[in-house]
Amino acid sequence: MEFALDNKITAQIDTDCLVIGIFSDSPLQGSAAAVNQACDGALHDLITSGDIDTNWKQTTLLHGLVGVAAKRILVIGCGEPEKFNPVRFDTVCAKAGAFLRDHASNKAHICLHEIETGDKNAYWRLRQAAVALDRANYKYTATKAPRAHDHEPLTGLTFASPGLNGGDEMQAALIEAKGIAKGYLRSRELGNLPPNICTPAYLAKTACEIAATYENVSVEILKRKDMAKLKMSALLAVGQGSANGPRLIILTYQGNDDDSRPIVLVGKGITFDTGGISLKPGLNMEQMKFDMGGAASVLGAFEACADLQLPINLVTIVAAAENMPDGKAYRPGDVLTSMSGQTIEVLNTDAEGRLVLCDALTYSQRFNPAALIDVATLTGACVVALGHHASAIMSKHDDLAAELLEAGQQAIDRGWRLPLWEDYQSQLKSPFADMKNVGGMPAGSITAGCFLSRFTKDQRWAHIDCAGTTWEWSGKKGSTGRPVGLLTQYLINQAG
Ligand code: BES
Ligand code: MN
Ligand code: ZN
Repeated sequence: MEFALDNKITAQIDTDCLVIGIFSDSPLQGSAAAVNQACDGALHDLITSGDIDTNWKQTTLLHGLVGVAAKRILVIGCGEPEKFNPVRFDTVCAKAGAFLRDHASNKAHICLHEIETGDKNAYWRLRQAAVALDRANYKYTATKAPRAHDHEPLTGLTFASPGLNGGDEMQAALIEAKGIAKGYLRSRELGNLPPNICTPAYLAKTACEIAATYENVSVEILKRKDMAKLKMSALLAVGQGSANGPRLIILTYQGNDDDSRPIVLVGKGITFDTGGISLKPGLNMEQMKFDMGGAASVLGAFEACADLQLPINLVTIVAAAENMPDGKAYRPGDVLTSMSGQTIEVLNTDAEGRLVLCDALTYSQRFNPAALIDVATLTGACVVALGHHASAIMSKHDDLAAELLEAGQQAIDRGWRLPLWEDYQSQLKSPFADMKNVGGMPAGSITAGCFLSRFTKDQRWAHIDCAGTTWEWSGKKGSTGRPVGLLTQYLINQAG
């Protein structure tokens, strides 16, 4: 999607659709006031007569308003001004994006970013509006023919620009939005692809394509033989029941001096999680194609960082495998010796994410990370705890946890912190190994985090469980791309 600025007078803009926001029971402001004046008060009359719904998230489409050049006007209700906030702002923009996706407009002119909210400045509002509109306008087509009467997708969004003042900064906001949107798109497309296409090898191929696009990006792919040399028995065990062999993908981006320590992102890339020998129930099993959502989001954030050429060093590692039941599959009772040397008793082959991650986290320490962050659809318990609105953030480093929480707030891709207290560690005690791979029913997300903490002892490390946020299971099913927004914002903040 192309983004551009347009500083023409709103009512004179010739576009398929002009998008404005209107608060309930308040005087018209900005572009809405300008449009109302151009059409001789018709907009105001439609509000008073109840034909325009100004409640939050409501949409009304107006055609052929006399005095206004735009073919259509899309009014998004902003609700009561006292209740308006940056989260509602984001939702209003997303509503507009979804409406434009489902109706016939190829070009749209947006005025929503002029709506003030909280302490957010014009840069944030423009960037956020562009990202939210672009995300909501997404349509999956990779393995699906368009219907005969589907209209052409939206090709461009122009944003009302308040004249030349701050023009450069507004342009910069759109460039940033484009990078973030690119990252989200990558993550979603990977997440939505079926598991027979998006295999560990496919994720590796995607990483190679990203590496080929940017001069300062390189890639390395490890296969079974390489993993065996490194003694990655936990990662190998998870992948050993599948004909689609595991891959460890290492992408390196150099945007800063050689000696500046990199940020390292590690993603869980289970391209399909059947549960293995501890087989999952059949109902909804197809959703386990999203078990590479962590990997998809770290790849997306990596691509956003490269697109924006941020002045940081970044390494992204994906532990990719398919968890299948098979004659060769690992089994409950197996004791694995991880790359770190610590032994793990497998009680449940469905707790496979922590097993692929533990070896990837041990491997990542060779990069001497300034911060080490893993992202994973690790536990169903995380969905129970936080639902689909917040990713769980766990870290023993208060400063790192605070940076990630703040990034989530800024991007409206929010996280919420869970504790990693020592008290929980005893749930991982095993009579036959240094630890077992499950901690029982209580605090399932935290004990999964505790498991990972044993492989990141001297690291400035955080764990993000995105099991609830990376895909949408009600309404329009599919990948959300999250937490690309949080991760990219974190990288932007570190760069800047
Ligand atoms: N990929 C799942 C976690 C998951 C489940 C995410 C449902 C989203 C929705 C993970 O590999 C898993 O199966 N975890 C188990 C762990 C348990 C066996 C300790 C779980 O959460 O049930
Ligand atoms: Mn599992
Ligand atoms: Zn899983």
